[in-house]
Order: sequence, then structure tokens, then C-alpha cells
Amino acid sequence: MIKPPKRLVLVGRSLGHSLSPLFQNAALQHAKLPLRYETLDIPASALDDTLQELATEDAAGNVTVPHKQAVFSHCDRLMAPAARAEAVNTFWFERGELIGDNTDVAGFDAAARRLLERTPAHLTVGLIGAGGAAGAVLTAIEAWPSCRVLVSNRTAQRSAALCARFSSFAQPSDAESLAREADLVVNATTVGLRDSEFPIDPARLRPSAMVLDIVYRRGETQWVHAARARGLRAMDGLAMLIEQGAAAFERWFGFPPDRDVMWRSVQ
Ligand code: ATR
Repeated sequence: MIKPPKRLVLVGRSLGHSLSPLFQNAALQHAKLPLRYETLDIPASALDDTLQELATEDAAGNVTVPHKQAVFSHCDRLMAPAARAEAVNTFWFERGELIGDNTDVAGFDAAARRLLERTPAHLTVGLIGAGGAAGAVLTAIEAWPSCRVLVSNRTAQRSAALCARFSSFAQPSDAESLAREADLVVNATTVGLRDSEFPIDPARLRPSAMVLDIVYRRGETQWVHAARARGLRAMDGLAMLIEQGAAAFERWFGFPPDRDVMWRSVQ
């Protein structure tokens, strides 16, 4: 039996851009739950103490950049997607034990289906990035039939280590091969979050390629705009954000939120 949390927080850094408080609070209010979803902006050095304090408060919440992998290492118990992704974006406490889940996996899967307008299968995916978000993307793609993933990352050592964990369908790559071969290009880096940089120039991609940015911004990201200007189908991270948030809400309370209320609050 799920005991509802007494406090809800988003643990991360530089959270001013986050839309999570907006749509989670809209859903909480709609469900008549007397809680506010708050941001907790903390450095890595404060993570230990913060988690201990949250345990005593019977809190639950989300984790975002840059703490997803650190919180994974702190968990007493992991749900299967978090164990596979080696990253936690959703947590709660049961009898003082820290439980970690990863609803980015389901969030990415839902966003990709929306973009592709079909069940994903027989695709070459170009994945840019090799952090916690990239681990969640690979965990989702692992369930897609007959897909392979080319992974490119600024730090090659990190993409090699990530691909080794998903070696049956993922291999390290460079931007050039990825651009030449990918049917679906996914940005799982933080590029574009606080700047207007592109993870890869859309002009280099195949004319039939689709683009999925995990980064979101009000009015969509510059990369998504640039991809569309080249005639590519493109979607930013808002659908993934809402889906991961809806799945997290269900973990905390045992029933799903009203997704329409969540969507309306961020329009
Ligand atoms: P998350 O949990 O969101 O994945 P992360 O683990 O900090 O966050 O990973 C961030 C990703 O963005 C990494 O792939 C990182 O590349 P490195 O492994 O080389 O650090 C990538 N990234 C961040 N800033 C970048 C930049 N300016 N250019 C290219 N890649 C960048």
C-alpha cells in the first residue's frame, strides 16, 4: 500500500528554467492533494545531507541534471528501468529506504511514438550524449524491435562505457557517421538548455531524418526550429517531460494525474 508523501521536491541545479513545478502543481491542485511541488537547488556536495533530511520528512520527488547518477548510487532499492539506465529521476521513501525509479524511460518512449506516429522498429537511431538521460534513452530503445543506436559524445570514453552496457544494439560513433546513417536523431546532452548551440547541425542530417530533442524550452528549442526549417520532422522535450512527470505522479500517489491539466498548464 502506497503511503502518500508529505513533501514533493525537484532535486537539481539551476532550476529556474524547469516547468515541472508548473504542471505538477496544476495536477496536484486538480486532484485536491494538499501539497506543493518545490524546487531544491543543491550542489553535489549537499546531496547526502539533503537525502537524509528528505527521508525524515517522508518526502518524494524528481531528480534532474546533474544529480541523476549520484542519486542512483544512493538508492537502497531500484525499480527495473532505473537499474538498467543507472540513473534515477523519480524517488520516494518506504520505511526510511530510498527507492529510485526512472520514468524518463517511459517518457522518452511516449515522445518517440508521438514523433514517429508509429511503433518504433527497424530504425537506426543517432544518440548524442552519454550521461544519465542517454542511459534512459537506451533503456527505452532496448525494447524496440530491430533497432541499432550510434552514440556520439563530447567525451568519447563515456560513450564507449555506455555502449558497453548496451552492446547488443549500441555502438560508439562519430558525428559524421551518425549524421549519414540515422533515421532518428536524439539530443540527450544539455546543449541548448541554457544556450542556443546545436548538438549537431541539422543541415548535415539525412533529408528523411527525424529529430527528437530531450531539451525543452518555452517556444521550443533553437535546434528543433532549425531542423524544421530544413524540412525535418522535429519535436522538443516537452512531451517527454510531461510523460515522465505523469508517470512519477502515479508512482507517488498510486493513481494517474489528469494529463490534460498538465498540458494546459504549460501552454
Ligand atoms: P544527464 O543526467 O541529463 O544526462 P549528465 O549526466 O551531466 O546529465 O550528461 C550531460 C551530457 O551532456 C553528457 O553527454 C555531456 O557530455 P560529456 O560526457 O562530454 O560531459 C553532454 N554535454 C554537456 N555540455 C556539453 C557541451 N557543451 N557540448 C557537448 N556535450 C555536452
